[in-house]
Amino acid sequence: TPGLADLAHRHGRYFGSATDNPELTDSAYTKILGSEFDMITPGNGMKWENTEPQQGVFDWSKGDEIVKLARANHQKVRAHTLVWHNQLPAWLTSRDWTPAELRAVLKKHITTEVRHYRGKVYSWDVVNEAFNEDGTYRDTIWYRTLGPGYIADALRWAHEADPHAKLYLNDYNIEAVGPKSDAYYNLVKQLKAEHVPLDGVGFQAHLALQYGYPTTIEDNLRRFSRLGLDTALTEVDVRMQLPATDDKLAEQATWYADLTKACLAVQRCVGVTVWDFTDKYSWIPGVFAGEGAALPWDEQLRPKPAYQALRDALGG
Ligand code: G3I
Repeated sequence: TPGLADLAHRHGRYFGSATDNPELTDSAYTKILGSEFDMITPGNGMKWENTEPQQGVFDWSKGDEIVKLARANHQKVRAHTLVWHNQLPAWLTSRDWTPAELRAVLKKHITTEVRHYRGKVYSWDVVNEAFNEDGTYRDTIWYRTLGPGYIADALRWAHEADPHAKLYLNDYNIEAVGPKSDAYYNLVKQLKAEHVPLDGVGFQAHLALQYGYPTTIEDNLRRFSRLGLDTALTEVDVRMQLPATDDKLAEQATWYADLTKACLAVQRCVGVTVWDFTDKYSWIPGVFAGEGAALPWDEQLRPKPAYQALRDALGG
């Protein structure tokens, strides 16, 4: 039977999953990862703390392992992520930098990492989570030291290092029209006017049943498409307060289907990625106490109602 990726392919879309290195020894897990998905995102392996743990010392082992597995499975890779405020190495966060110093550090990191994966990845999440909920710039080491221009610089450096990789900005809570997604809309317009290389915006879509479904997502995706960009749902999960009940799992299934249909309805929405596919390896319980059950497969790797809903939404 066709998997999610095969079904998505009929619509000219991909269907992806995040994964992480420690899980790759679980063969029941990797069997599903290899058969249902055609796009892989390394959940942690390509982040700064892993790839440049000491200044100027690069370690590609985790990212390479995932790229190699993806290649063996004929999958593409959404590479993640170059410029973020989390999971930075201590050498970078534990001292002060002048703007000139930090700019050089950032340029070297981006150039070296993007060159290493040149020709091996489909896209890069170049800048991750740059805005606050109210649409102001997030106060990060990058913004504080370099000002808002760090975003255009990062995109230009990444493009120089791999002219064929699709370059994305990526964030959460931007699925609906609102102050945070408006900030991206305005930034993208400005970047486009300045001919900064930018191919897409990634909508993470870390949703929670208790906060309601982002009903304006389709219109929102469409307004970004009209700026001449690709869009993608990049980190989908739908968490709930535990215990999971049949009603909550049914509601969750509807949300997964609706998200997928929203992407299919917008021409330049290129695909959907879940933030891992099984509750066994979800980040949610570790971060939101009492919440979980966020993914389409349960902790025993059994498909949940959300899995069937995804298949139905994709016309399977
Ligand atoms: O590697 C260490 C391990 O050595 C140590 O023993 C263990 C003890 O806590 O921690 C391990 O590091 C953890 C790391 O994941 C690797 O498993 C960190 O504590 C943990 O905080 C980290 O969480 C990751 C999180 O980003 C950090 O911000 C999640 O796995 C990852 O799924 C999550 O992904 C982010 C996206 O990159 C951006 N969007 C939001 C999304 C969810 O937070």
